[in-house]
Amino acid sequence: MAIIIKNQEQIEGIRKSSKLAGQTLQIIGEYVKEGVTTEYLDNIIKEYIADHGAIAAPLNYNGFPKSSCISPNNIICHGIPSKDIILKPADIVNIDITTILDGYFGDTSKMFTIGDISDEVQNLIDVTKHCLNLGIQQVKPKNSFGNIGYFIGNYAQSKGFSVVYEFCGHGVGLKFHEEPQVDHLARKNSGAEMKPGMIFTIEPMINQGKSKVVIDKNDGWTATTIDNKLSAQYEHTILVTPTGFEVLTDVIGEY
Ligand code: MF3
Ligand code: CO
Ligand code: CO
Repeated sequence: MAIIIKNQEQIEGIRKSSKLAGQTLQIIGEYVKEGVTTEYLDNIIKEYIADHGAIAAPLNYNGFPKSSCISPNNIICHGIPSKDIILKPADIVNIDITTILDGYFGDTSKMFTIGDISDEVQNLIDVTKHCLNLGIQQVKPKNSFGNIGYFIGNYAQSKGFSVVYEFCGHGVGLKFHEEPQVDHLARKNSGAEMKPGMIFTIEPMINQGKSKVVIDKNDGWTATTIDNKLSAQYEHTILVTPTGFEVLTDVIGEY
C-alpha cells in the first residue's frame, strides 16, 4: 500500500469537506461553556454537519458511538460525548470533528477553555498549537515526513512537555485513516518523502506529565494520561502543493 496522490477532483472534494469540518469547529465555540454536557455539544455538531449535506465520520466508525470526539482535561483523545460529562470552570477540552461530504473526509480539532485557566495551563495549550504550526511549516515537496515529528518533538520537550507517540496523524481524504502514519516524535530526515497531491493530518497530542496512554477498559475508546495530568491537541488537514502546503481545514485565514 502506498500513499495516495489525490487528483484535482479529489482535492476539490476534500477541500470542501475540510472547510465544513473547520466551520463546524468554529460554530461549536459559541456553545462551549460551563454547565453544558459533551453530549449536548455532540448533538449540535451532528445536526450542523447533517444540515450541510454531510455525515459526521466518527459515528459507527469501528463501533464509535457518537458523532465527534470530545476530550476534556486528562483525556488525550477519543473522548466519547456523554450526558454525564459536564463542563466546569477551568476545564480545557479538545473537540475533534471529521466530516464526510460527497464521500470525501476532512479532519480537524482544537482546544477550548471554560472560564479562567492558569498561565501554566494556557502555556500547554499555546505550546501544543505551536507544535502543529511547526509541523505544518515542514510540509513541502521532497521533505521527509519524519521532519514533522522531529521539530514538534524538539519544541515540546524543550518546553518541558511530553509527546504522545501511541497516536499519530494520518493520510486522509478518500478514507478516514490512510497511509502514511504521521509521527509527532521522529528522527530528522526519516520516513517517506512528501509529494504534491498528498493529503494528511498533523495532530500533536502534548502532555503536561508522562506521554503514556491508557485506554478505558469499559468503553474501549477513551484515552487518558497515565498520571491524569492534562493533555492538549490541535489538528489540521493539510495538502502538499507544488510549492509547500495548503491547510484545508483553516477557515479563519490563519495560514
Ligand atoms: N478524529 C480522530 C483523528 O483525528 C479519529 C477519531 S476515530 C473515532 O484521527 F472513531 F473516535 F471517531
Ligand atoms: Co485525525
Ligand atoms: Co481528528
